[in-house]
Amino acid sequence: MNDVMSMGIHRLWKKHLIEKLDCGKRPNSQEPLNFLDVAGGTGDIAFGLLDHARLKYGDVESTMTVADINPDMLAEGQKRCLSTPYAHSPRINFLEQNGEIMDKIPDNSKDVYTIAFGIRNFTNIQAGLNTAYRVLKPGGIFACLEFSQVEEPALDYIYQAYSFSLLPMMGQLIANDRDSYQYLVESIRKFPNQETFANMIRKAGFYVPGKGYENLTFGVAAIHIGVKL
Ligand SMILES: C[S@@+](CC[C@H](N)C(=O)[O-])C[C@H]1O[C@@H](n2cnc3c(N)ncnc32)[C@H](O)[C@@H]1O
Repeated sequence: MNDVMSMGIHRLWKKHLIEKLDCGKRPNSQEPLNFLDVAGGTGDIAFGLLDHARLKYGDVESTMTVADINPDMLAEGQKRCLSTPYAHSPRINFLEQNGEIMDKIPDNSKDVYTIAFGIRNFTNIQAGLNTAYRVLKPGGIFACLEFSQVEEPALDYIYQAYSFSLLPMMGQLIANDRDSYQYLVESIRKFPNQETFANMIRKAGFYVPGKGYENLTFGVAAIHIGVKL
């Protein structure tokens, strides 16, 4: 669905997020990082972060928890993990968890919390943000990549035409599933705009640097950052 919705561009957005975060245990540091990728079923972000840390900083110690509410998505991530350098490694674990609650993740335990194309599906987004704040250590980083709002009116007109008419039709043709694609379009439409979402991150307690977000592809997607001080 991400491929269809973004015409494959979500792969570039994910790569950009990983490079922007630039995480990894630095050679002169004693402390490996504890990553948490929420709604991370496919493992794209999890493997990407671990690869970045390993290839750029020689970090082979930091750990990753992939949390997702859907056991089938976790199974898909675990299957994909088998063809990565982290296959059967104790450094990565997959956990069935509702991102709004995450009762198996202790307070103040994670250095980096990522979520890509997941928080839009939460029933209570603010509860998810409050939980992100709870599980991060002081100094920890929250980073969210999500579909957002195109801010330029003429471009938005074209984008809306694509998403409202073409996408459900493509869903019907590609996956014989018009309804799921219709849901996808509507969930993007309903998701708070960049400013509102940045304010929700602030409300959870995070310090939001600058305006708090970076638009990608004219705002089709955006990266929001928060820091737990
Ligand atoms: C579009 S997929 C994104 C997967 C992955 N992050 C990526 O970008 O490829 C959305 C994911 O959100 C998960 N999800 C939805 N609601 C959730 C919740 N309340 N808690 C945790 N995960 C959730 C779904 O199970 C699904 O795996």
